[in-house]
Amino acid sequence: MSAEKPQVTSRIGQISLESIKEDEKVLQHSEPAPNLRLSLAQAVTVLRKSLLSLAFFSIILNVLALATPIYLFQISDRVLTSRSIDTLVMLTIIIIGALALHAVLDILRRLYILRVAMKIETTLANPVISAAARAANLGSPQELQVVNDLATIRNFMTSPVLLILMDAPVTPIFFITVFMIHPNLGWIIIGFAFVTGVLALWNQRATRIHFSEAQSAGGRASLYLDSISRNAQVVGAMGMTAEASRIWGNETATALSRLVRAQDSNILITGISKFLRMTVQIALLGWGALLALDGEITGGMMIAASMIAGRALAPVDGAIEGWKSYVQATSAYGRIARLLKSSPLNLARLKLPDPNGNLSVNRILYAPPPNKKVLLNGITFELGAGKALGVIGPSGAGKTTLARLLIGSITPNAGETRLSGTELRHWDPSQFGEVVGYLPQEVQLFPVSIKANIARLKMNATDDEIFAAAEFAGVHDVIANMPQGYETMLSQDGSPLSGGQKQRVALARAFFGKPRFVVLDEPNSNLDSDGEVALAKTIKKAQAAGITTITITQRQTLLRHVDEIIVLDAGKMIKFGLRDKILTEVYGTAVANAIIGRQKLDNTENNQPLTKVTKNE
Ligand SMILES: Nc1ncnc2c1ncn2[C@@H]1O[C@H](COP(=O)(O)OP(=O)(O)O)[C@@H](O)[C@H]1O
Ligand SMILES: [Mg+2]
Repeated sequence: MSAEKPQVTSRIGQISLESIKEDEKVLQHSEPAPNLRLSLAQAVTVLRKSLLSLAFFSIILNVLALATPIYLFQISDRVLTSRSIDTLVMLTIIIIGALALHAVLDILRRLYILRVAMKIETTLANPVISAAARAANLGSPQELQVVNDLATIRNFMTSPVLLILMDAPVTPIFFITVFMIHPNLGWIIIGFAFVTGVLALWNQRATRIHFSEAQSAGGRASLYLDSISRNAQVVGAMGMTAEASRIWGNETATALSRLVRAQDSNILITGISKFLRMTVQIALLGWGALLALDGEITGGMMIAASMIAGRALAPVDGAIEGWKSYVQATSAYGRIARLLKSSPLNLARLKLPDPNGNLSVNRILYAPPPNKKVLLNGITFELGAGKALGVIGPSGAGKTTLARLLIGSITPNAGETRLSGTELRHWDPSQFGEVVGYLPQEVQLFPVSIKANIARLKMNATDDEIFAAAEFAGVHDVIANMPQGYETMLSQDGSPLSGGQKQRVALARAFFGKPRFVVLDEPNSNLDSDGEVALAKTIKKAQAAGITTITITQRQTLLRHVDEIIVLDAGKMIKFGLRDKILTEVYGTAVANAIIGRQKLDNTENNQPLTKVTKNE
């Protein structure tokens, strides 16, 4: 035993406070997408090794736990009969030593498991968040809930339940000890253990469904709460509070009622099993007394057997009480493993030379589940590097859907999109993210500073890069006028920025870094005339810088600055060609000339919705 001890401390040393601090740094730094499968394998290895170490702790601790019964046995059978004070003193010293060792090892294993839990969480946090964000991006926002599963696993590992469960494999020692005292007593305790075990199994079956239903309803409730908080102003202004809280309340009530049902059963079974545990101790004492009267065992053995029995059945009790957290932790692990294994981020990709911005789209078909309605069909076009393309068409034509396909956030059912000759999904995601800019139709900024928003949340972005992007998007003056300039913190709804200002900050974000290909989805929907001028200048600058841009717009002014135009209607590309030709075909010569002819950027007279101008024609 003493030879093993250094090994224990060295194992603990492996997961030291220092290594946790380093993990903290990993968590804080924005790293490129980590290797998900490798991280999962690492976490599983850490877990496996630590469970082995813990099993080793458990064996020693449980052997040491025999100290008190042995002490009792020795006192009643030796000391009291021999009346030897020396023996009593020696025994007491040895037993107190054993108890002290027990206490120290118990403290050590708790310190150890705490660090293992942190280690596992830090190993998995980054991969899980990356994979969940990617999954949310591909249309499964519920995957973001998996982030909470990390905490579930940590809570389970740091709760007493795991330690109690770890004791379970050691219980045979106790059974064998009781058998050695007397086989009759052994059979009694085996019988009771069997009954308690059956109860535990029955409890597992009865509560499993309830616990998992409670968990998923709880997940939906928190997702819902999240959207209430994001739409707090809408909810408040239009008197939706009661309705919104009713929906949240329903989910929460479902979660709670399932939880109550499962816990009812848990409490009942726990009570019964506690009763059984006390009864088995009485049964052993009673039967032991009979055996003692027959002279088969001594009184000390009788008392020791009863104490050991209590200890032997404890893990069964613990397993029933801790069943809930065990189920939650294993299903949390299951979700994490599935997310990490199935994430598209796993596909290793060659790091290609940065693209030149040449875009080629070939016969795209997009018909998403569940109803497989065709949203886009037969989209084919080529765009040279540094060209500006305008996309127009009525609401619901599929413009936003096309934008999302072009930046790879959704995948077409057929056809392909190539950037610089390489299919979008063959690009390394982090590299692709760097060379692509996207301004979505509905701008959502993060509740961090304006600066961090522009920098795409990159921690290591330099002030120069941020300023360059703001300048490029012509939003520097707007930001400079904010109360704390670039450091102004945004709230969840983007305030204190106005709708137009949010769009302009998001424009700067789209051009942050060195993008080669930028998609702007109705970038001027909230802009005033200053904003429009800035946007037009940005598109011009992008052309000059060789950045390929695609601008979706409902207004004509912007079309002045593009090279080519696509007209979408009902998911079909009904026109594609050079600007002048398409403008003439769509609006007639007079309006086309008006759009093209007025090159002066500060003139915003015809900055009207398409429909209105068409009517004037
Ligand atoms: N995830 C989706 N599932 C099913 N239909 C969708 C989805 N997203 C958009 N649509 C439908 O696709 C059509 C085009 O939408 P969208 O691309 O947003 O149009 P636009 O941007 O041109 O106004 C609309 O009819 C819309 O209802
Ligand atoms: Mg749209």
